[in-house]
Amino acid sequence: MSRIVYVDGAYLPEADAKVSVFDRAFLMGDGVYEVTTVLEGRLVDFAGHMRRLIRSLTELAIRPPATEEELLAIHRELVRRNELDEGIVYLQVTRGVADRDFLYPPADTRPTLVLFTQKMAVLERESVRRGLSVATLPDIRWGRRDIKTVQLLYPSMAKMEAKARGADDAWLVDTEGRVTEGSSNNAYIITPDRRIVTRRLSQDILHGITRASVVRLAAEEGYTIDEGGFTVPEAKAATEAFITSASSFVTPVVSIDGSPVGTGTPGEATRRLRDIYIAESLRTAI
Ligand code: PDD
Repeated sequence: MSRIVYVDGAYLPEADAKVSVFDRAFLMGDGVYEVTTVLEGRLVDFAGHMRRLIRSLTELAIRPPATEEELLAIHRELVRRNELDEGIVYLQVTRGVADRDFLYPPADTRPTLVLFTQKMAVLERESVRRGLSVATLPDIRWGRRDIKTVQLLYPSMAKMEAKARGADDAWLVDTEGRVTEGSSNNAYIITPDRRIVTRRLSQDILHGITRASVVRLAAEEGYTIDEGGFTVPEAKAATEAFITSASSFVTPVVSIDGSPVGTGTPGEATRRLRDIYIAESLRTAI
């Protein structure tokens, strides 16, 4: 079945869904996006994704293309038209269509709004049973990683390099040797004294919507949340490690640069955090 894609007010068969070659996202990477997970045909953490979308748009002075209520209606209509039970909705907003220029076009330029669905298994995944291996690579992305822009070339290069090294994904490391985040996820370790360590929110990382929920749920479970960040040797000495993102939820990391983390198999604490997060998501999805 060909998907139905939303482009600027129209629901179109994917072959007919097109944007201009003069779109600023095509020419300048001038756009932002969100990925919202769908479980049982409902949207997980929708309000959080919309809050971050507005923040990204505000930081870049791009006009919001629609109200949150309208965006919710479009998400739901797309889920309905594509009979999506489990997967994701991808949303992209660009600054719109204008002659190529480094200066932004006038503020009243109409932003481009595109949404599409992707069917995928998010609950049952081989990566969760097996655990992920990661390779560490220097974080050479730009300095505003808190804005969820479509400039994803380095994360893509890093993931390719990780694959070439035989790993599933990359963990990116700053110039002081501290892990920032994964190529498309937030990174955590669990220490022998039951601390969950991750990077503090700043312009260095994306403010994960899943991160916010998982940190809250982990604190309710009695974990101490340490936002001081961690080095690669600290990660290798951890009892467990994991990542979070909208599509991976909580997924164990079992090896770093070929060194096993803890037993080298998915850990009990990570499994429990995943289960709690999924239960909460199923309870609160809209
Ligand atoms: N990636 N860090 C980066 C660099 C990301 O790209 C993502 C999300 C996250 C996790 O954020 P959230 O929990 O809100 O999904 C952290 C999405 C899923 C993607 O690009 O496909």
